[in-house]
Amino acid sequence: MFRDEIDPLTKYERPPVQCYHGGQSFRYCPNFKCDFSVTTNVSGPPASAIKAAKEQFIDIEHYPDQDAWVPRCHFADYIGFHPNQIRLGNGASEFIDLISRIFKPGTTWRPYPSQVLYLEFERAFTNAGLLKTESSNANAEITVIVNPNSTTGDYIEIDELRKIIAADSKSTFVIDESFIMSYGPDWIKQSAMQLIQEFGDRVMVLTSWTKVWACPLLRLGTLVSSEKMIERIAEIQAPWTVNGFAQSFFIAALQEKDYFKEMWETTPLWNAEMRKLFKEIGCKPNENSPIWVPYVYVDMLTQEIATKAHRLAFDAGLPIRLCDDFHQPAKVRLGVRELKYVHMLFDIYKNDKELMEMIKQAQ
Ligand SMILES: Cc1ncc(COP(=O)(O)O)c(C=O)c1O
Repeated sequence: MFRDEIDPLTKYERPPVQCYHGGQSFRYCPNFKCDFSVTTNVSGPPASAIKAAKEQFIDIEHYPDQDAWVPRCHFADYIGFHPNQIRLGNGASEFIDLISRIFKPGTTWRPYPSQVLYLEFERAFTNAGLLKTESSNANAEITVIVNPNSTTGDYIEIDELRKIIAADSKSTFVIDESFIMSYGPDWIKQSAMQLIQEFGDRVMVLTSWTKVWACPLLRLGTLVSSEKMIERIAEIQAPWTVNGFAQSFFIAALQEKDYFKEMWETTPLWNAEMRKLFKEIGCKPNENSPIWVPYVYVDMLTQEIATKAHRLAFDAGLPIRLCDDFHQPAKVRLGVRELKYVHMLFDIYKNDKELMEMIKQAQ
């Protein structure tokens, strides 16, 4: 029983999180069914990787590999790089923080090609004393590109990216490729990792494996760059940020050579269906985003409509992501999900007379 008979969860008031993230809301959802607010792989986590993580309990009394050397070697083999060009982290978020701290306070940075960017960059970079500038500022010392952009889904092809990096020669490019694996079997050829040899220290590529292996509870990220930049990151990275369960999960998942096949097949089909349904009710999905991107970014026409669609989804146990904190209050983003849940959500929208009337009025 509790110390004073009061459940501690009702006793304390929880302060808001420092940086809101969609994946939090499902915990408070009545009748939770499916989480559209996160952008994890529709196939879920590889079973063999879960098994490998569970088997690690046998080693629970021991420290894990301090620098995650073994998983780094496996990953080096997977992408064709040297392990000294790779760090493994507790999600991509750890690298956003570490990268911000290898530059001197006062260093200028810009989100590119627009100001709509995964929020944690702004928080970490501001905390580290870096100065944000306009997206058009080619002289910014750091350029951050999320590719595909994690909110809008807009995507820059590798040839175009090469030109941008070559042209803005004073800038170090931090490229977040947390969703590029959805591109298809050729994703490694599309990755900005291919540009590291050409541009050396000026290209740093981070990736959230948390997303594509659907393991947010475990968390996994990688950073790939020149040996020199990776050494600078290593100097400030705390030991053991990637626990032994996550390391084993990572190694086993890498062995699953065919694992992404299902994702490559289903994501474009379900993404297309979600866009079609949004258009049918009169809203505007972002058609600039390629169809393989594992989320749909939608203009709901007004802030009121977006807020109502967000609330209806939450109440039905199908939370979606409202983009107001990206300064886009009329937009929502939905992870691509199984069609039975997609249809469940659209039944709710279509049967809500008030929502349909609001959309009609806003057109
Ligand atoms: C573009 C982008 N980068 C990084 C992250 C954080 O990844 P992780 O959960 O692996 O820390 C996210 C999570 O939503 C993201 O959308």
